[in-house]
Amino acid sequence: MSILQKMGISKNSPSEVLLTSFNSKKDPHAAAVGVYLLNEKKVKMNLFGDTQTYKNLSNSGEAVANIVSDPELIIKGGLPDIFSPPLKTFSFETAKKVNAPYLSKADAFLEFEIKEMKEKTLNDDIGFSKYFETIGSVKNIEILNDNPHTLKRSDFYLIESSVLASKAISARKKGKKEKFNDLVDEISFFKQKSQKIAPKSRTSNLILDILDHLDGKINE
Ligand SMILES: Cc1cc2nc3c(=O)[nH]c(=O)nc-3n(C[C@H](O)[C@H](O)[C@H](O)COP(=O)(O)O)c2cc1C
Repeated sequence: MSILQKMGISKNSPSEVLLTSFNSKKDPHAAAVGVYLLNEKKVKMNLFGDTQTYKNLSNSGEAVANIVSDPELIIKGGLPDIFSPPLKTFSFETAKKVNAPYLSKADAFLEFEIKEMKEKTLNDDIGFSKYFETIGSVKNIEILNDNPHTLKRSDFYLIESSVLASKAISARKKGKKEKFNDLVDEISFFKQKSQKIAPKSRTSNLILDILDHLDGKINE
């Protein structure tokens, strides 16, 4: 088993990480991205074409995948429209082998070099989106925190709510009001689940923050 597999990165299920990169002015950037294992030394991710992350990676050719066990970091990095400005709350340091930053709060991180970016089109229930299938060759792996951390059911509800919220924001931008409302209903279902298993928890409150933001945008 490779070290990437030992960290839980696998071929068929995305690992949610925070991808960190530099823009052309060398300002650090972070965004939530799903990463897959390709082989012992390579990882794969799908980057939407309209993101700063895609721009940074296509220009610099290098990035870091930060493994974090705190779901709050993932959702804040994935929903800048809701939790702005998330970048100010992250603290960055410079990676060792690539020209990219990493997060000081990461439990572990993978430094990688882009080997390939293939343009593809996704056609799903919110319409067409351009994305780039991106392959990275891992140059360095650092483990910063080996404290065990349990999985919580409410963490799952929060992460899934954030993925649905990211999709709802795209649906709204594409003018798909009905789809937007369906996605908000799905998040409400997870809110109820989370409030039942983890009432008044930080996780449940973050799902409420997501819903409060989206409810305000329903008719925009
Ligand atoms: C849990 C989660 C996973 C995400 N996974 C991806 C992904 O795999 N690819 C992607 O392009 N965006 C993904 N996103 C959306 C980006 O994180 C989001 O659009 C972010 O704002 C990136 O844009 P930026 O680089 O322009 O800041 C995800 C969002 C969340 C909440």
